Amino acid sequence: MKSLSRSATTAFAISSSPPHRPSGVACSTALDSSSVVPGGATIGLQFVGLALLGLAGWMGGTLVYRNQIGVDHRHASAGKWRETSVPRTGEAVVVAEAGDLERDQMKLVHVDGTRIVLGRTEEGYRAFDDRCTHKGGPLSDGVLICGTVQCPWHGSQFAVDTGEVKCGPAKKKIATHTVQESNGQVRLRL
Ligand code: FES
Repeated sequence: MKSLSRSATTAFAISSSPPHRPSGVACSTALDSSSVVPGGATIGLQFVGLALLGLAGWMGGTLVYRNQIGVDHRHASAGKWRETSVPRTGEAVVVAEAGDLERDQMKLVHVDGTRIVLGRTEEGYRAFDDRCTHKGGPLSDGVLICGTVQCPWHGSQFAVDTGEVKCGPAKKKIATHTVQESNGQVRLRL
């Protein structure tokens, strides 16, 4: 009984001894209320972070869902993206083989830095400027259906035969160019 009492006293002494603490670290037994309640500057910064988070979300949603940046939004049969460069010679230059494009497909042709779209319609090949007259959207990245090209940015539609606006917000027609198809080749004249 005596030995049991001694061991119980030892156990109490061990459990009640303070935990090891690095020297120099102050021990606080009560929470200091001023260290857990955020100050005005902290709350202000939190609101700024929240505002930035909301702004970033809004901007990301606008770019992806409205402007469709980074999204392949062309017509399902638009085919693989095609691009080619040709020199400006002052004469008609070959820009494609006759079978390169299916109906309603387009390709972008760089003629000495000028961006021209070559598209194939039911009536044959057509060529027009790649720049939408509304805010400069790339028409080659849009949709071509039934002789009408639709801008990927805000949906303006143009007749690829004449360049006339079929649907706004664009108000000015796009420039069209002469295309000839002969001997299995498509030639563009600027
Ligand atoms: S840029 Fe083409 S419709 Fe706005």
